[in-house]
Amino acid sequence: MLIDDLEYILLSEQDIQKRVTEIAAEIDRDYTGKDLVLVCILKGGIIFLSDLTRQITIPHAFDMVGAESYGASTTSSGHVIITKDVQMPLVGRDILLIEDIYDTGSTLKVVRELLQVHTPRSVEVCALLWKEKKDRTHQVPVKYVGFKIPDVFVVGYGLDFNEKYRNLRSIGVLKKEIYI
Ligand code: IMP
Ligand code: MG
Repeated sequence: MLIDDLEYILLSEQDIQKRVTEIAAEIDRDYTGKDLVLVCILKGGIIFLSDLTRQITIPHAFDMVGAESYGASTTSSGHVIITKDVQMPLVGRDILLIEDIYDTGSTLKVVRELLQVHTPRSVEVCALLWKEKKDRTHQVPVKYVGFKIPDVFVVGYGLDFNEKYRNLRSIGVLKKEIYI
């Protein structure tokens, strides 16, 4: 089983679902009366988006941008490629970027710059995970953080290693022998 490849589970399905519900309640409160668009960063953010959008009760839209940086490695290349732009008009709207993990900050920096071109009213970030790092390549303000985690490589709940493990319901640390 896929889950047997984990050294240990960092966040259980219950931990994640509870936190998603809490974040959705904060978003409901903060964005009431605003023109909210959740913009998911593909592909890692997609599972988080699909749970979050269904827990948010205020009217909103969602769209997707594609960004890739990692490749088949467990450390960020720092080189971010935009693979897909948003499809809907964002002029004057309130954008909330939905990201799986804030690691080096490279992806969020590039995606934020891309979105500014669409002249939205506001752009904020919601990241499920925040990696504790001593030095980060790019500091990006993150309005909503699900969990702060140590600087370890994790998989599950949208996060992959080599495109695998995205479908795990929990988040955990891979056994070393899997990626060495
Ligand atoms: P950053 O650009 O370095 O902040 O990295 C952002 C992207 O790298 C995330 O959207 C993930 O797709 C990927 N990433 C960063 N850390 C991890 C990890 O621990 N596991 C899996 N993917 C990760
Ligand atoms: Mg990835």
